[in-house]
Amino acid sequence: MALRGMLLQQLLLLLGLIILAASQPTSNCKRSCGNVDIPYPFGTEEGCYLDKSFLITCDTNTSKSKPLLRSSNVTVLNISLDGELRVSYSIARDCYNESGVRASETYSGLNLTKFAISFKKNKFTAVGCDTVALIQGFGEKDYATGCISLCDNADSVDDGSCSGIGCCQTSIPAGVSDFFVGLGSLKNHPPVLNFNPCSFGFVVEETAYNFSSSDLKNLGNTDTVPVVLDWAVGNETCQKAKTNSTSYACKAENSACYESNNGPGYRCKCSPGFQGNPYLPYGCLDIDECKTSNPCYKD
Ligand SMILES: *[C@@H]1O[C@H](CO)[C@@H](O)[C@H](O)[C@H]1NC(C)=O
Ligand SMILES: *[C@@H]1O[C@H](CO)[C@@H](O)[C@H](O)[C@H]1NC(C)=O
Ligand SMILES: *[C@@H]1O[C@H](CO)[C@@H](O)[C@H](O)[C@H]1NC(C)=O
Ligand SMILES: *[C@@H]1O[C@H](CO)[C@@H](O)[C@H](O)[C@H]1NC(C)=O
Ligand SMILES: *[C@@H]1O[C@H](CO)[C@@H](O)[C@H](O)[C@H]1NC(C)=O
Ligand SMILES: *[C@@H]1O[C@H](CO)[C@@H](O)[C@H](O)[C@H]1NC(C)=O
Ligand SMILES: *[C@@H]1O[C@H](CO)[C@@H](O)[C@H](O)[C@H]1NC(C)=O
Ligand SMILES: *[C@@H]1O[C@H](CO)[C@@H](O)[C@H](O)[C@H]1NC(C)=O
Repeated sequence: MALRGMLLQQLLLLLGLIILAASQPTSNCKRSCGNVDIPYPFGTEEGCYLDKSFLITCDTNTSKSKPLLRSSNVTVLNISLDGELRVSYSIARDCYNESGVRASETYSGLNLTKFAISFKKNKFTAVGCDTVALIQGFGEKDYATGCISLCDNADSVDDGSCSGIGCCQTSIPAGVSDFFVGLGSLKNHPPVLNFNPCSFGFVVEETAYNFSSSDLKNLGNTDTVPVVLDWAVGNETCQKAKTNSTSYACKAENSACYESNNGPGYRCKCSPGFQGNPYLPYGCLDIDECKTSNPCYKD
């Protein structure tokens, strides 16, 4: 009896998988690059993504395959179906030599039409002891903000917390998809040169960066930091999107539509009790099924 029950369950599971496989908009799509999963609506080849904004280019030129957002330089670290995308992006720096002459400068900025910087998860952060840092954002609204950090020696710095001495932070407003970081100096660094030759400025996932006084020097060895982006589909409201069932992206039964809280468009979510990929037909499965056919959202 127990055996029959098990067989039946396996058969049902198999049937479910066959139906699932047959109903995908795309089969044969590469669904990972390096160690990053690439669920629909993202994809690496034509026919595998929802539209060009969701193109991930898998750069296989390097020894380890590297997923890049669209055809940009922006490396993708993680894609979540909750509407988040983690990328790594370069930090800006402004370095001086002993004569107080700017020795080198690198910029940081992103222009990601359609994907907005998460205002909940990121902070604009500047590190330095003679540092004026500015972030200019463009998107739903244009804005500029920044912070200043001045200190005399590495000992005066609050190690471990970004409190305004050696490190300062500001929030980022909603609706920013495009930003530019600018750095400046009040004294051209000579007084602090021995422990802080450069100023650094970057947008970073708040929980991924802890300031330490050694960063005043050592951030020079860091090129990129993680940034969280919010993604959504379409550019209309849920109500409007639902009027066209061809283009409506929440394809799964047992899925629901949510307005984006950061930029245009909407998001899809599986209904409570269901789990998987709401952007695929039959993508939302009963949570128990998900446990047995793990990971259940891949095609
Ligand atoms: C890989 O290298 C080739 C040849 O150098 C180049 O044309 C191509 O753009 C590179 N691909 C990526 C994704 O950078
Ligand atoms: C991509 O990154 C390289 C090295 O970091 C840089 O030289 C190049 O200009 C970048 N290309 C674009 C399109 O940003
Ligand atoms: C990606 O994010 C998900 C959920 O946020 C997490 O469970 C997973 O461990 C992350 N994967 C990587 C490679 O960071
Ligand atoms: C600093 O850079 C300027 C311009 O490149 C140069 O003239 C000066 O000699 C440099 N100073 C030192 C101490 O290297
Ligand atoms: C960002 O990209 C969009 C579309 O490609 C363009 O219209 C806009 O001018 C760019 N913004 C900046 C500041 O370059
Ligand atoms: C930052 O510090 C907190 C608390 O000390 C710790 O839990 C967290 O892992 C640290 N994060 C990083 C990226 O080092
Ligand atoms: C919304 O997207 C559609 C199709 O991509 C485009 O034709 C339309 O101009 C966009 N509308 C706005 C307000 O951006
Ligand atoms: C519905 O969306 C499809 C696919 O984007 C498009 O071809 C069609 O014109 C749209 N229909 C209406 C009534 O807007």
